[in-house]
Amino acid sequence: MRKIIVDCDPGHDDAFALMLAWGNPTVDLIGVTTVAGNQSISKVTRNALSVAGVCGITGVPFARGLHRPLVRPPGTAASVHGDSGLDGPVLPEPALELDGRHAVDLIIDLVMTHPPGSVTLVPTGPLSNIATAAVKEPAIVSRVHEVVLMGGAIRGGNRTPVAEFNIAVDPEAASIVFQQPWKVTMVGLDVTHTALATPEVCARIEELGTVPSRFFGEVLRFFTQAYLNDQGFAAPPVHDPCAVAYVIDPSLLTVRAAPVDVELHGRLTTGMTVVDMRGEAPPGCTTHVATGIDVARFWDLVLDALRRIG
Ligand code: BDR
Ligand code: CA
Repeated sequence: MRKIIVDCDPGHDDAFALMLAWGNPTVDLIGVTTVAGNQSISKVTRNALSVAGVCGITGVPFARGLHRPLVRPPGTAASVHGDSGLDGPVLPEPALELDGRHAVDLIIDLVMTHPPGSVTLVPTGPLSNIATAAVKEPAIVSRVHEVVLMGGAIRGGNRTPVAEFNIAVDPEAASIVFQQPWKVTMVGLDVTHTALATPEVCARIEELGTVPSRFFGEVLRFFTQAYLNDQGFAAPPVHDPCAVAYVIDPSLLTVRAAPVDVELHGRLTTGMTVVDMRGEAPPGCTTHVATGIDVARFWDLVLDALRRIG
């Protein structure tokens, strides 16, 4: 069974990523780490613990990570996630205790103590923790099975016209992650902007009638309005679980190898993922990009996990 660590900044769609990682029986969630992104590190960490309570996640260490990007000042996404980072539902008081280790150390410990090639990293926030872990303990790079991240885009952006939020917030960290010789798959906006929580999807979720389904229904109610107001989407794109879905079932996404680098010095383009789609990737290219997703099967997978957590 694939062992995964979700490094996240919940976040409405991060909450879905956690739920899918826990509720799907074919992946083993071995750790959850938080990183400043959608909101401050205190807020997203609290949100992660609340979501753990809703989903019934137990026996999994949760650790708090970096409170800011490596070089730049923090940037949040209150316009789509609200003041708490997870506005909308009532957030239950966290019952789970945080692991005493820093997120960076938890990632390193988990990768170093599991067999080589057995752990997949699934970052769904800025890449500050992942880059720091790779720099602090370079031995993790060859031990990780692969990195499947939500972030970037082959074309376009949401934070700026050309930069996606997770990359734009900490482009230096993203650059480090893409440059390591591990396999990295970028699940970017090209794909996630098609994974929309339409009214039909929302209705299917609410119809389950469970406590978690009511929670996730409320998550989507807020997210729908926020995405409409902020970015003009009629239905919100639920980005982060797309990366988890790819780990669970690679046949859900279309992926190809392509060189990826991150713009760090552009006057207008900083944080842009520059993807070379001209012809075939050179031999040995370790970076990959998702170009499509089977949206119907993706939602079936999400609904199945939600049903399983009861
Ligand atoms: C990404 O940015 C965040 O706001 C979301 O949680 C997602 O990870 C989408 O650009
Ligand atoms: Ca996120």
